[in-house]
Amino acid sequence: MHEVKEVGAAELIYEGNSYKYPVIEGSEGERSIRMGSLRADTKLISYDPGYGNTASCISDITFIDGEKGILRHRGYPIDELANNCTFIEVAYLLVHGHLPNQNQLTYFSRLLNRHSLIHEDMRNFFKNYPDHAHPMAILSAMMVSLSSFYPELNVGEGEEMDLTVARLLAKIRTLAALSYKQSEGHPHVYPSSKMTYVENFLNMMFYTPVANYELDPVTVRALNKLLILHADHEQNCSTSAVRLVGSSGANLYASIAAGICALWGPLHGGANQAVIEMLDQIRREGLTIDACIERSKDKDDPFRLMGFGHRVYKSYDPRAKIAKQACEDVLNKLGIKDELLDIAIQLEDRALNDDYFVSRKLYPNVDFYTGITLRAMGIPTNMFTVIFAIGRAPGWIAHWLEQRDDPDQRIGRPRQVYTGPQERKIIPIENRD
Ligand code: SDX
Repeated sequence: MHEVKEVGAAELIYEGNSYKYPVIEGSEGERSIRMGSLRADTKLISYDPGYGNTASCISDITFIDGEKGILRHRGYPIDELANNCTFIEVAYLLVHGHLPNQNQLTYFSRLLNRHSLIHEDMRNFFKNYPDHAHPMAILSAMMVSLSSFYPELNVGEGEEMDLTVARLLAKIRTLAALSYKQSEGHPHVYPSSKMTYVENFLNMMFYTPVANYELDPVTVRALNKLLILHADHEQNCSTSAVRLVGSSGANLYASIAAGICALWGPLHGGANQAVIEMLDQIRREGLTIDACIERSKDKDDPFRLMGFGHRVYKSYDPRAKIAKQACEDVLNKLGIKDELLDIAIQLEDRALNDDYFVSRKLYPNVDFYTGITLRAMGIPTNMFTVIFAIGRAPGWIAHWLEQRDDPDQRIGRPRQVYTGPQERKIIPIENRD
């Protein structure tokens, strides 16, 4: 894989000169202009804020067709993976490029279990955070601190790589659960070798010595599905952050910590928390659906329809469809009636028939329904983006490894168009205004 084919050339006519650049095509027919020599040839650079028209890399991992609402990981459609695999199988697929056979899955699961503890000295870090510390702040700090406790930073190949990958995936889940326990002032719960990855997370979150926690298979299945929906999404903001930091040679833990920080933003992974806060505001203030839709269009009004819109999907996010169905299933099976789901469905119906949203191709994205399901599981709102980070960890790792092994890749260093002052002399301070 990792092959592109040259399918022609693009010509740039500038100042009377002609410059030709090869057009390359990927396995799904996406085409790009290879412009590595543009500045050397023409002294021009491209200006593309937000990189909406810029490919930063060639990748085998995930394919998205935003117009058709297609999402595939290593060729497998997201609905097939969500309905037939566990999160750990999908994590293995993203990192290794193929689904594991039974022996590989057993080996990987054993590694995850063996490395699910964190160093006891790290547990002490939690005690020094204030109760109101956001779990994403704790998770990002703890992630980069793993490089101090596990200094074998060369991710290596084969078994050495499996060890590092399993260690990171196991520990990000344990760190997440511990940050929740710390915020509740509850005793930390250790992982159990008798539980699966998701069962362990739920148990470490909700077991207490005085309230035994019964694992509900509906909840375990639903959380597996939600983590799969978050597992990877090609060059999104946080994955691009992981690649950019990794391109300097920074170790895997530092690069993943950068991804966690980028994911925290409300325009990105923080949107799942922002959606619930928005729906709760609508319920609490008794806002009408029409009023919300009108306010979300008003550029002077900070109210935004969180969980709606996407840089790439200009159709219904395929993950949102699956998340909506999972949400309805979980609430029905747990016998929960959540007013926020009713509000979300009304908002969606209204927006999908409103010209503002239709003309801008704004549809629900992965964050619109996931928070309601997480709420039904008893997961607090400020942990939603942490769940997203656990889900996205295998995608981040896969991209970090792919970049490390890509001969085309150099340190990421974009250029700029400078608009500041031209050269000027320093005026002695006594003469300054
Ligand atoms: C994720 O990239 C990924 O793949 C991300 C992700 C992943 O898996 O990694 O899919 C996860 O981050 C999903 C997105 C979560 N964010 C939100 O739900 C926040 C709300 N959405 C918006 O902020 C926005 O839609 C973005 C950030 C998602 C996309 O922003 P873009 O591509 O820069 O689009 P834009 O802001 O230029 O919007 C185009 C127009 C603008 O109006 P006009 O200037 O044309 O008049 O659409 C409007 C925007 O004002 N618009 C919205 C809107 N989203 C866009 N108007 C109201 N409500 C919204 N939610």
